[in-house]
Amino acid sequence: MEFKLGLIGYPVQHSLSPFIHQKFMENTSIQGSYQLFETEPHQLEKRLEELKRADISGFNVTVPHKQAIMSYLDEVDSDAYRIGAVNTVVNDKGRLKGYNTDGIGYVRSLAEAYPNVFQQEKKALILGAGGAARGIYRALVKQGIQGISIANRTKSKAEGLLDLQDLHTETEILSFSEAEAALDNFDLIVQTTSVGMSPNHDEQVISLNKVKPHTVVSDIVYKPLNTKLLREAANLGAKTHHGHTMLLYQAQYAFEIWTGAHPQMESLVEQLEQRLRG
Ligand code: ATR
Repeated sequence: MEFKLGLIGYPVQHSLSPFIHQKFMENTSIQGSYQLFETEPHQLEKRLEELKRADISGFNVTVPHKQAIMSYLDEVDSDAYRIGAVNTVVNDKGRLKGYNTDGIGYVRSLAEAYPNVFQQEKKALILGAGGAARGIYRALVKQGIQGISIANRTKSKAEGLLDLQDLHTETEILSFSEAEAALDNFDLIVQTTSVGMSPNHDEQVISLNKVKPHTVVSDIVYKPLNTKLLREAANLGAKTHHGHTMLLYQAQYAFEIWTGAHPQMESLVEQLEQRLRG
């Protein structure tokens, strides 16, 4: 079988997904292609019809369509529905089903590097409360982390994450300064805002002065590869976890949903790092 895969979003021309999925295909001997479908918001519905006619097997969804696409799908997986965003769609003979692999991909990438972080008594701090934070919050809760704090510039948006709590967990909402003051309480800090992303790579959302050496500091930003926050974490002796690994593992999860094949990741992490370093 030949898998026709791709990505819809706007803009998409600099996406790393074709590179990643091409490597997955080589790695699993799956035959197929991964194309970019640049799609402006007003073109979304027409694009979906085109993709169905072209018999696409599945596709990824990125900015600005992750929420909007949900109303055009025939079915949305329950986690994606609760998160409120879809990044992966399967086309089953014209029936489109949406999933969200961002949070689960994040948890997989973290589990590869730091499996101990998921023990029940561990405490996590999530910085940010946007779409990415929602997926990560839900995945961390499902993974069994009980104590989670969320800090966001706009407090009401952080409170909005609490409705993802059909699962039992203790969650508190903090300001950035409260989070900074309590930093030594956390075993995991996940930075999900766009702060620190190129071209504003000299910014960070909080200072890590009080971080403990056993704490894992994780930044989902992957451009630059080493954000200011991660450089500070390394200087303070904390453990670090980089955004490009989440990018790879959310893609791996999507590839598995489409093809049933499980790509190996070892050499890919390094290849992606090299590509991002340019
Ligand atoms: P994504 O889907 O990548 O999570 P998003 O839903 O637009 O993107 O969310 C962006 C996140 O980055 C939000 O938490 C946002 O904070 P607000 O809810 O207060 O808007 C955060 N963010 C963006 N720019 C920021 C800045 N300059 N300082 C602090 N937080 C910022």
